[in-house]
Amino acid sequence: MESRKPLIAGNWKMFKTCPEATDTAQKLVELVGDVKSVDIMIAPTFTALAMVSEIIKDSPVELGAQNLYWEKEGAFTGEISAPMIVSAGCRYVIIGHSERRQFFGETDEGVNKKIKAAFEASLIPIVCVGETESERDSGKTFSVLDKQIQEGLKKLNLDASSPPVIAYEPIWAIGTGKTAQPEQAQEAHAYIRQLISEDFGIELASIIRILYGGSVKPGNIAELMALQDIDGALVGGASLKPETFSEIIHYQK
Ligand code: PGA
Repeated sequence: MESRKPLIAGNWKMFKTCPEATDTAQKLVELVGDVKSVDIMIAPTFTALAMVSEIIKDSPVELGAQNLYWEKEGAFTGEISAPMIVSAGCRYVIIGHSERRQFFGETDEGVNKKIKAAFEASLIPIVCVGETESERDSGKTFSVLDKQIQEGLKKLNLDASSPPVIAYEPIWAIGTGKTAQPEQAQEAHAYIRQLISEDFGIELASIIRILYGGSVKPGNIAELMALQDIDGALVGGASLKPETFSEIIHYQK
């Protein structure tokens, strides 16, 4: 099994004005120091991307956007394309977050187009998947993951030289303070890796990073990271405070 460098990613969602975002990024850069054992990403709102990019440019912290639109440009009022977020300094983009699926009607088909657009612009997509509480309770977790992975990654020419990142985020654990039990998380992650192996081959499956998301905090990160198929975390609420996010980044100590 190849070693996978962990990725700790912060999703700031619709929080922070421009001054708040730059202030948080500045503090984070100071707290993080020159960590090399993990990759670090923060995803502020679109309006703060370019400013935050300036602040983090000489640090190990990298930039991500929370969404994109699949066309490169055109008459699509209110949308933002992959080349635009690249020009604002992004290396990553979060795609198909459950809040986008739930509140903005995002579908697996749209997710598929967005992943393609991200790759065309040399962005690393962080593709979010995960079941609702009622889907879990009715035993549908694996079939939901099957559909999201199969349709989301359909006909994509994925190869091990530029792998996407997958984030498994059980919806019932997002922002609720409930974290999946370690064995539930490991089981879902191993299942996703198996799906990737079947669809794209063992080489990609062995290097693809699968992040866990849903109420990750300083108090549970080490336990989650100890699991075989968890390669990092997508952190929402706990990424908003630089001190807390830095504690998560330094989980090994
Ligand atoms: P949370 O959010 O850490 O606040 O649960 C995670 C996410 O939505 O990515």
